[in-house]
Amino acid sequence: MKTRRKFLGASAAAAVGTSGIAVLGAAVCHSKPSLQQEAPTHLRGAAPLPYAQVISLDLNASRARHADALRAAYRTVAEASTGHITAWLALGEGAFPPGSDKPQHLKQMPPYAGDVLDVSQSHGQLLLQITAGSALTAKEAAEKMLRELPQWRVRWRMDGHRPENRTEDGKGLARNPFHFTEGYGNPSSSAEIAERATVRAVQDEPAWAVGGSYQVIRIIRLATGFWDRDTVHEQERIMGRRKDGRWLDGTPRAERPVFAADPQGKTTPLDAHVRRAAPDQRNPPPLVRRSYNYYRGADDQGLLFSCFQRDLVQGFEAVQHRLQGEAMAKYTLTVGGGYFFVPPPGNAWLQWL
Ligand code: HEM
Repeated sequence: MKTRRKFLGASAAAAVGTSGIAVLGAAVCHSKPSLQQEAPTHLRGAAPLPYAQVISLDLNASRARHADALRAAYRTVAEASTGHITAWLALGEGAFPPGSDKPQHLKQMPPYAGDVLDVSQSHGQLLLQITAGSALTAKEAAEKMLRELPQWRVRWRMDGHRPENRTEDGKGLARNPFHFTEGYGNPSSSAEIAERATVRAVQDEPAWAVGGSYQVIRIIRLATGFWDRDTVHEQERIMGRRKDGRWLDGTPRAERPVFAADPQGKTTPLDAHVRRAAPDQRNPPPLVRRSYNYYRGADDQGLLFSCFQRDLVQGFEAVQHRLQGEAMAKYTLTVGGGYFFVPPPGNAWLQWL
């Protein structure tokens, strides 16, 4: 473990912690051991809530100090998280002052092969994600929170929806804009979700980041008209699973096929999405996907891809590199998104920024 620099002395840190807990009340009080063991907000439940507002924010330079603005954002999010709304914050690399102890892989999301990243819908210092049971609840919560946060200005903002959102065999499933069910490759137990998605003490990360998650967002425009002209058979060979999740070689949905038994890719093509994403099905990539569909018009719809992982390099980045050249690439265009870090539950992390 690298030696990490401390930012505040113990007394200052204690002062921040105490005042934070007093202001925030029970919703974020993490002194009770039972609450500590609960899944962090962003990973709660097998299926995410079906509607989302994903808002990237930058600090208004003219406003209050950076640390105060972060504290205000934290308080607003904690107070908004009720039984109907699940909301969380994630930090972009720009949230960290120079020289601060940021998560080691956190940087600006680079463009990958084929991406056309539009800066007006990419990156941002802070990500605010609000999820709810209805589009209106999510939107109203977002408006209220933004009114409470004049220190921040919206950089980009997306509405997301998970049609047919449900849980089956412990897995959260939804239908994506290509009419395929997504979520089968995700873990079904909360222990495995935590194992894939939360930073552990043994990693070479700052101590404050343990229990947090890297979150990747990709705004992926999908050529649905072009896709819909293909036959279902072709679509399933591009994806590597049937529309309802069954495997192309007949392996039952909940089991994992052995792609090595099909070295030429006769049954599951070598450039099929799932084969590229997880070539060794006994050792699936350490990430948890919780994406939403977005719709901004018939010609601008797609996936608000979102995934969480404990290690950005072994999680998203390794998969994304393998997906280069996949058969699905000609139907997709990534236009935005970013890399963020969801801090661990509680407010102790505020001391370190
Ligand atoms: C371009 C839009 C995308 C679409 C339409 C899409 C669709 C799908 C579908 C239908 C499945 C199979 C069902 C499932 O296991 O959930 C799947 C699996 C998967 N996808 Fe994607 N995906 C997209 C982008 C991505 C991206 C950008 C990544 C990560 C870099 C990714 C990573 C994965 C992984 C890891 C699996 C599970 C593989 C397994 O464990 O079997 N996908 N995707």
